[in-house]
Amino acid sequence: MKKTDCTLPNTAILNEITEPLLRWYHAQETERALPWREDVTPYHVWLSEIMLQQTRASAVIPYYHRFLAKLPTIADLAACNEDALMKLWQGLGYYSRARNLKKAACELVNSYEGNLPADFEQLLKLPGIGRYTASAIGSIAFGLPLPAVDGNILRVVMRVLACGEDIALPAVKRAVEDALTPIYPAGSEAGALNQAFMDLGAIVCLPNGAPHCAACPLARLCLAHDLGQEQKFPVKSAKKKRRVEKLTVLLIYQGKNLALHKRPEKGLLAGLWELPNLAGHLTKAQLYEALAEQGLTKDDIAAVQKLPAAKHIFSHVEWQMHGYKITLAEAASQIAEAKTEFVWASPAELADTYSIPSAFQYFLNFLEKEK
Ligand code: ADE
Repeated sequence: MKKTDCTLPNTAILNEITEPLLRWYHAQETERALPWREDVTPYHVWLSEIMLQQTRASAVIPYYHRFLAKLPTIADLAACNEDALMKLWQGLGYYSRARNLKKAACELVNSYEGNLPADFEQLLKLPGIGRYTASAIGSIAFGLPLPAVDGNILRVVMRVLACGEDIALPAVKRAVEDALTPIYPAGSEAGALNQAFMDLGAIVCLPNGAPHCAACPLARLCLAHDLGQEQKFPVKSAKKKRRVEKLTVLLIYQGKNLALHKRPEKGLLAGLWELPNLAGHLTKAQLYEALAEQGLTKDDIAAVQKLPAAKHIFSHVEWQMHGYKITLAEAASQIAEAKTEFVWASPAELADTYSIPSAFQYFLNFLEKEK
């Protein structure tokens, strides 16, 4: 990066952002009425920000209401049982977010009388809360003047300043935080300014394709717009490619009951219930061998049906899944129960007790549709 590509900060321009952006936001507000904007109870803001970390606002809303109806206080969250918590999170993905919420709730009960601290550094120490989320909670719930710097804000700022520094670099992110902090008002407008940046990034200053500069309250200030080079910014170096993992997923039925297996307590989808699966894409012959190792001989197996392949993308890993539906012979039931590490979930338990991560839902949905 040449030094001349950008010299953050450009105070003269940055100082001009706050007023038109807030005016635009307040004119928009009714159009994006979101429950966590109408009610800025710190617990509610915290929950919404964690849910919004990886999920669109429209998808979050029903989860948010359901979660708060079941766990109305931080103390309720701290005392909540793990399976019930996973069930409330089922479908949202990135389950470590829910685990961290509970861990943080326990710390809040033990050290802060069940309240969130109105302090950036203390928020940052809680599990699951990084700089962005601490700033979002601090500003929205407590009126602290903290810029919540994510991809949206970086895109807007780098375009306004026509700044060619690499936003994938943590140092650049920190420099943007430092440059923006002085333009933040204290009080309710601090949260409004962060949410204004979020909305501008989501609705106007779009990441892919042409941004809607005609509707942008910052177009008059925007150096990239002035140059006609909006899409040249921000500059972001390429991420590492996702690792591909091949697996064979098994839907093993014992009567109406389905075999589930608990994942290890560490790593991807830690501690969640999964459909049993094996590394690699197995042929039927390899499958029979693998089942024999689990204590299921050919005589125990009444039918094996190949299912359509499916793919699931996590942030760092892509699963390419093949699947088989395996129906056990009547007489095999007891053997299977005794010899395998599985639990056998009834249809009711599958619906109410066990939460199965979305990565496996393709196969369950397929069988549901086939019925
Ligand atoms: N994404 C992250 N935080 C958000 C918020 N407070 N409102 C809308 N979208 C968001």
